[in-house]
Amino acid sequence: MQAFTRIFGSGFVTGETLVPNERMSKVCDTSDEWIRERSGIQERYFVNEGTATSDLAVGAAKKALADANVKAEEIDYIVVATMTPDYYFPGLGSLVQSKLGLGHIPALDIRQQCSGFVYGLQVCDALIRAGQAKRLLFIGAEIHSGFMPFSKKGWDVVMGRSNEAISQEERDWNSKFRHLLVLFGDAAGAVVMGPTDDPQRGLLGFSLHSDGKNPEALYVPSAGFAYRPYFSEEHVREGRFVPVMDGRNVFKMAVTRMPEAVLEVCAKAGVKLDDINLLIPHQANLRISEGVQKALKLPDDRVYNNIQRYGNTTAATIPIAYDECRKAGRIKKGDLVCFVGLGAGYHWGATLMRE
Ligand code: UT7
Repeated sequence: MQAFTRIFGSGFVTGETLVPNERMSKVCDTSDEWIRERSGIQERYFVNEGTATSDLAVGAAKKALADANVKAEEIDYIVVATMTPDYYFPGLGSLVQSKLGLGHIPALDIRQQCSGFVYGLQVCDALIRAGQAKRLLFIGAEIHSGFMPFSKKGWDVVMGRSNEAISQEERDWNSKFRHLLVLFGDAAGAVVMGPTDDPQRGLLGFSLHSDGKNPEALYVPSAGFAYRPYFSEEHVREGRFVPVMDGRNVFKMAVTRMPEAVLEVCAKAGVKLDDINLLIPHQANLRISEGVQKALKLPDDRVYNNIQRYGNTTAATIPIAYDECRKAGRIKKGDLVCFVGLGAGYHWGATLMRE
C-alpha cells in the first residue's frame, strides 16, 4: 500500500452569468446591504439555461487535468460530490465519464452536501491507498439555480436580460424563500489525485461525523421516497422544491462543530493547530468562517475566504478556494492545509493535508 495520497492539480469553473446582490433585490425583498452584512456575499454566478451540473463538472475537470499535466485517458476513477445532479438518478459520475470521453472506468457519487468535499477526500484516499486508483478525478459540482422559485420573467431580471418589474404577487412568493435564495451560486471545482512515495506530502488525516436526528434543519421537502408519489403538483404549488433551512440552527452547528473537527484532526494526525498554515473552511457564510476563526484564535492570514465572489457553492467551495490559494501562492509546497465543512444531514468534518 502507498504511504500517501497527493493532489497533483486543481481547477474550477463557475456558472456563466455574474449576478450581483442588487439583482436579487429586484426579485425579492432583500438588499445588497442585508446580504453583505449577514453573509458577506457580494455576488454569485448562475448558469445559463441549458448548462447542467455535469457540464460544470467537466469544465472543472479539464482545468484540473491540464494543471496536473495528466491526460484524460490516464484517469482510472471518477468521484463526484454533488447534491444537485443533472437527474434524480443516475448520479453525475457516469455522465462525467461519458462527457470526458473516458473508457468504462468506475464512477462514484458522494452526497454529503456541504461536507461532500471533506468526506470525498477520505473515500478517494482510501481508494488510492488500496491500489484501486492511480489517477483519480475528484469533483465537487453544484447548480443551485434550479432551486430558485423565479418565473421566466423573474429569471430575465436576475440574469440582467430585462429591467421590467415583476408582479407584487411574484415578489411576495419569492420573498418567502429570501433567506435561502441570496446565499447560493453555481460552480464546480476539481482535483486530480494519486499515490505518492513522498512521505512529506499528501493527505494526513480525517475527522468525519454525522448526526441525523434533525434532518429538517436543512432539507428538500419533496422529490424523495418518503412521499408517494415522490414529486407532485402539490409539492410545486407549495414551493417544496426549494430547500427548507433553519438558518440559525445551521449557523450554530457550524460554528461549534467545525472548530471541534479541526482540533480533532490535528490531535489524530499529531500536529499542533499552530502548525496549520492555512485553514480553508467551507464557504457558507463569512460570519460562520469568522466564528470558526475566532474559536480557533487564528490570525486573518491563516484562514481563506472567497464567499464574497461566489456565494455558497456547496461541494464546490473547498476545491475552488484550494485552487485559488495554490495559484495565488497562498499555499506552497510543504504547507499544512486544513479543510473543514458542515452541511445538511448534519455531516461535518475536517481533513489535513501537507501540500
Ligand atoms: O452550507 C450550509 C448552508 N446554510 C448555511 O450555512 C446557513 C447558515 N445560516 C446563515 O447563514 C444565517 O442564519 C442566514 C444568512 C441564513 C440568516 O441570517 P441571520 O442573521 O440568522 O438572520 P435571521 O434569519 O435571524 O433573520 C433576521 C431578519 C428577519 O427579519 P425580522 O424577523 O428580524 O424582521 C428575517 O426575516 O432578516 C430577515 N431576512 C432578510 N431580510 C432581507 C431573512 N432573509 C433576508 C433577506 N433579505 N434575504
